[in-house]
Amino acid sequence: ISKIGVLTSGGDAPGMNPCIRAVVRTAIFNGLQVVGIKQGYKGMIENDMYEMGTRSVSNILNLGGTILKTARCLPFRTDEGMETAYQNIKAQGIDGLVVIGGDGTFTGALRFSQKYPDISVIGVPGTIDNDLYGSTYTLGFDTATNTVIEAIDKIRDTADSHDRLFFVEVMGRDSGAIALRAGISCGAEAILLPEKSTAMEDLIAHLKNGAINKKSSSIVIVAEGDKTGGIYDLAKAVQQEITHYDIKVTVLGHLQRGGAPSSFDRVLGSRLGFAAVNALISGQSQKMVGLEANHIKLTPLEEALSHHDFKLESDLLQMMDILAI
Ligand code: F6P
Repeated sequence: ISKIGVLTSGGDAPGMNPCIRAVVRTAIFNGLQVVGIKQGYKGMIENDMYEMGTRSVSNILNLGGTILKTARCLPFRTDEGMETAYQNIKAQGIDGLVVIGGDGTFTGALRFSQKYPDISVIGVPGTIDNDLYGSTYTLGFDTATNTVIEAIDKIRDTADSHDRLFFVEVMGRDSGAIALRAGISCGAEAILLPEKSTAMEDLIAHLKNGAINKKSSSIVIVAEGDKTGGIYDLAKAVQQEITHYDIKVTVLGHLQRGGAPSSFDRVLGSRLGFAAVNALISGQSQKMVGLEANHIKLTPLEEALSHHDFKLESDLLQMMDILAI
């Protein structure tokens, strides 16, 4: 390996910048050149790349988002798009790639490196959703969960003052990881998750019970991937059954993706970026670097992509209703 290209792709996540910084500095320390590729695979196709030096990543540890920008790139899914991307990075002399993103990013990376095996590829799990096999945590999950907690604590203040019931939707795509952690942290009265179906009757009985137990406010966290029904319909249906609470809906949306990365995500980004470059140097390719049991672990991209059984913590699932009585 002599020249590494680094890119971020898919949804941005806090912690991507610390990871980019670690990739750049680890590579330079080891005598390699580094090229920053703008807007993910789009920059490979459009030849939008620039040489990165040690100072190009100064003072970015604390920045949310990604200095390399990101995109979801459809042309990269075509053979023509991939060929153009390949020609462009070959012309730059790039022989190793670090791709930071989620499963869509890894699917593209794996196809690309299978088609062009002379380019080594290492993936870094970067998504707030925490839904990748091979790493207990993904970059951005901790910060996003903290952002959600901060927002819900504020909602609790007003909910409590008005004796209201709030339905709060949080991100996560098909994963309930943010919802579960935030729910336990904020003492949500109920947490609706894609991984666990909740019957409407049970939800209503649980909320009525809260009122009987003199709860002055209630918060129901709804993961965006939950299948009980859309949050507005859900709130309407519950309002028909529960009249003593005024019901409000808040969709937190993209604010969950922004903000300065937490200490955890800064360290995780640094560890994974450092590990990704060392993996390339030691001849690895088509692998994802992850953190399991507080140790760096390499998982073949093919294996990471074939498992969709990322599990929520069973003890949290067990306690979520009990702690909210
Ligand atoms: O994958 C990260 C994520 O924020 C998901 O939680 C959410 O479903 C999706 O991206 C939103 O995507 P976009 O920013 O393209 O609307």
